[in-house]
Amino acid sequence: MAKVLVVTSGKGGVGKTTSTAALGAALAKTGKKVVVVDFDVGLRNLDIVMGAERRVVFDMINVIQGEAKLSQALIRDKRVETLSILPASQTRDKDALTNEGVAKVITELREMFDWVICDSPAGIERGASLAMHHADVAVIVTNPEVSSVRDSDRIIGLLDSKTDRATRGERVEKHLLLTRYDPVRAARGDMLKTEDVLEILSIPLLGIIPESQEVLRASNLGTPVIFSNPDAAPSRAYMDAARRLLGEKVPMTVPGEKKSLMDKLFGRRVA
Ligand SMILES: Nc1ncnc2c1ncn2[C@@H]1O[C@H](COP(=O)(O)OP(=O)(O)OP(=O)(O)O)[C@@H](O)[C@H]1O
Ligand SMILES: [Mg+2]
Repeated sequence: MAKVLVVTSGKGGVGKTTSTAALGAALAKTGKKVVVVDFDVGLRNLDIVMGAERRVVFDMINVIQGEAKLSQALIRDKRVETLSILPASQTRDKDALTNEGVAKVITELREMFDWVICDSPAGIERGASLAMHHADVAVIVTNPEVSSVRDSDRIIGLLDSKTDRATRGERVEKHLLLTRYDPVRAARGDMLKTEDVLEILSIPLLGIIPESQEVLRASNLGTPVIFSNPDAAPSRAYMDAARRLLGEKVPMTVPGEKKSLMDKLFGRRVA
């Protein structure tokens, strides 16, 4: 059975698009058939993070308006053949993304893939609602700071009330992904503690992704960090998170708190 997963947050700039690309890449690496879907109409940056921007000819709105078939709009990843992207339109009006149109596209994608990963735009408006509407699973991307946690709490409220599952009396499976976690600031007490975030939001922890230059570097290269540097700390953290999504029990690593002996012996940096 295909799973539809939304990567959402409320607050902007917390790492949704980065996490969509990384989790998509990680799941595809395990052999699952994955499509990442960009719901951020107007900004359209998932294709850039995936390095597919020059290949975009048709997008989701073209499909919804009957100007292209879904198969014409899907772009196969250059590195892993089980990974595809459905881009968003950069030029069209957001209103062209209709409820019925999105429902039809998602139904078709469910037939073709094991995981349909929807990258939500920021905020709690229509775009974010459309991105989460068909979700079975939600990854709530949160930075360890008050404003991000507050917005994540709002998103949890919407997931529990406004989604297709909620209207059927079912629940969306929710996971917390803490991103941009800075061990130095954590040690100084400048960030909320993981335990505090977990207590406020009260949903299970999927992973903690460290703040890392590797993520920026990968984004500039147009490649998910998992592909550009699989051994980097954020890549390992995303890979572990993806395995947890698949139901595996993987011990949680808190960035900065544990350097493996091998890392110390060979002098590799954590991030
Ligand atoms: N773990 C990380 N370490 C360092 N930089 C990061 C990390 N995660 C994300 N970033 C950077 O933070 C910025 C915002 O990330 P991203 O675009 O993924 O956020 P977003 O939630 O999708 O934003 P928006 O709400 O605008 O869609 C980007 O420049 C990205 O490279
Ligand atoms: Mg984004």
